[in-house]
Formats: sequence, structure tokens, C-alpha cells
Amino acid sequence: YHVDWDVSAAEKGGHDYFMLKEIVEQPRAVADTLLGRVGIDGTLTLDEMRLSPSDLRDIEKIVIIACGTSYHAGLIAKYAIEHWCRIPCEVEVASEFRYRDPILNRQTLVIGISQSGESMDTLMATRYAREQRARVLAICNVNGSTIPRESDGVLYTHAGPEVGVAATKTFLTQLAACYLIGLYLAQVRNLKFGDEINAIIAQLARMPEQVEKVLDTVEPVRRLARSLSNSTTVLFLGRHVGYPVAMEGALKLKELAYMHAEAFAAGELKHGPIALIENGLPVVVVVPSREGRGVLHDKIVSNIQEIRARGARTIVIAEEGDEAVLPFSDELIEVPAVPTLLQPIVATVPLQVFACELALAKGNDVDQPRNLAKSVTVE
Ligand code: G6P
Repeated sequence: YHVDWDVSAAEKGGHDYFMLKEIVEQPRAVADTLLGRVGIDGTLTLDEMRLSPSDLRDIEKIVIIACGTSYHAGLIAKYAIEHWCRIPCEVEVASEFRYRDPILNRQTLVIGISQSGESMDTLMATRYAREQRARVLAICNVNGSTIPRESDGVLYTHAGPEVGVAATKTFLTQLAACYLIGLYLAQVRNLKFGDEINAIIAQLARMPEQVEKVLDTVEPVRRLARSLSNSTTVLFLGRHVGYPVAMEGALKLKELAYMHAEAFAAGELKHGPIALIENGLPVVVVVPSREGRGVLHDKIVSNIQEIRARGARTIVIAEEGDEAVLPFSDELIEVPAVPTLLQPIVATVPLQVFACELALAKGNDVDQPRNLAKSVTVE
């Protein structure tokens, strides 16, 4: 009696690629990142932050620096932090930040986001920030890596090792970490809208099950992706937090499928990008939740109408039960209804699957895309 034992297949948990495994591990990764940090009564414990509540009350400005996918997590964090904490928050790619003489002082909190904790650009930028006496907090997935070692505090994401070069589960956990920091700052600074903060914390704790629901319904996205394997360009549109989600969707497609993919803020459509729309061009639109921000939702629905009238093939990601988008969606991808600021956690998942499947249909190695490295330790 003989059993074939393939070590590499076992490491991939029965999947053909690490990336596929890492995509399905996301509910667990997000749950592990929240574990022990969110109390049942909504108290947040971020003990590795090593910045005292009084330090955090003194913060006058937040600057987030990162590269690649981590930068997109930072862009999303800005929407959440400014809304919840009312602290001005800038986000910049590390390679630009470092060399432009940025204004930093003791009252600046610099958050460096890096999956590996080793990206040279982010490391140089956080080092520079410390030289300028800013307080530096790292969000990293690799324990004891350089960036957290050189920072004042750290919030580790607990995604587990990520092998696929294109970040997936580490991105979702970076978002969870950013939300935790924003909510913690709001609590520490004793902001008056405590009820909203508590409600969001309860919703955040439920995000792992919401991601699970997305994964359960993602099969049609695979079929859709395969049908687009001969396209040369895919455009992405988003608004509010949906804009950085669109950017992440476009980045995934470049990295994995080697396709021209570009994201635009939906409101900018009329200022140029609409000229690109031609018959049959696939356009992915990330539609904001209807909750609280009905205006934005309505505006993006008219954007979908506009591009469709010009021949675009509209691929719409919207929350379940959003009937307004139905008449204008050639393909509709539904995600669970969650608060707008948390929507990136669910809305990103179909985009990862989309890019991964399209790349596989083209015969690409999704774990080791050409020309890319998991961690870039040169400037
Ligand atoms: C490389 C990887 C990307 C990653 C970026 C930033 O380019 O291929 O997936 O987003 O580096 O990496 P970091 O480890 O700093 O998050």
C-alpha cells in the first residue's frame, strides 16, 4: 500500500498556489489580528504600542508611510482616522516622503506600514522620522523585523507567513490593524461620539465572518475573470474608501496578470478618464455602502450609467441588496453590507480573486510574478 506524499502540495494546503491558500486564510488572519485586542465590552488593548495615552493625546498630526499594497492600507486608514479621531492624517509613499523635507515634530505620529518590516524605502523614511523626533509606530507582519525594531511601538498583524509575492492576507490584516489604531486613538482621546466608536468596534469584530461570506460566493468572479483573459486593459473606479480599494484591485492585476490596469477616483471621471471608455472596455466599479453616505452612492451610480452608455462592460462590486446598481451592471459582485469605513475588508477580496484567476487563465505563476520580489530591500 503506497501513499503519495507531496511536500509542496501539503504546504499549500491542497491548493495549487500559495496565493489561493492565502486568500482563503483571510477570515482567520483577520480574526487572529483582532484576537486579544478587542474585549467583549469593546475595550481595546494594544499593549505593544508602547505609546502612553498621554503621548497619544498630544498627537497633532498623523503621517502614514508605506509602499505598494501597504500604501493602499494607509490610504484607507486616513478616511477612518480622520473621521473617528479628528486628527489630520497624511499618507505618502515612503520613497517620496523621505526626500522632500517633510514637516515633523514631537507631536507627529508617523505610522510605517510594512508587511515584511524590511522594505528599504519605508525603513529609511521611518528612520528619518525618528531623527526628526516624531514618534514612530510600525504595523508589520514579521516579528522582530527591522522596521518594528527601530520604531517606538508596533502593532503586529497576525496573518501568519505570506509566501505569495502579491500581498493578500497581510493587506486585510493591515486594514484591521489600522482600524484598531484609529478606534483606540478615538477612545484614548475620549471623543464624544463614543457610541459610534463602540458600534464600529462591534462590527469590526464581525469582519472575519463577513470575509468568509465573500469567499463563499466568489465562484462567479472566477468565471468572469477567465472570460476576460484576452483583454488588454481593465479600469477601476471607486469613491471614498472605494478609491484605494480600486487602486489595490488595479495593482493586483498589474502584478499578477501583467495587464494595464488603472484606478481612478470616480469623481474624476469627467476630468479625463471618461475619454478612455470605448466599446467593451471592462471597468470595475467599487460602490460605497449605502449606510450614512447615500449621496456618494447615488453619485457613483450615475458614473456607472455614464460609462455604460459609452460602451463600457461594467463589473460592479456593491453591497447585497443594492438594487440601484442592478440596471447598469453587466456583472454584479455582491459583498455583505457593512459600515462604509470597514467595507474595504470585504470589497478587496473579490478583486484579489479576480486578478489571481485572470493571471492563472493567462498561465502566469501567481506566487512568483515576473520581475517582482516579496520584500524589496534596496532603495
Ligand atoms: C513589494 C511586494 C508588494 C508589497 C510591497 C511593500 O513590492 O511585492 O506586495 O506591497 O513590496 O512591502 P512591505 O513588506 O513593505 O509591505
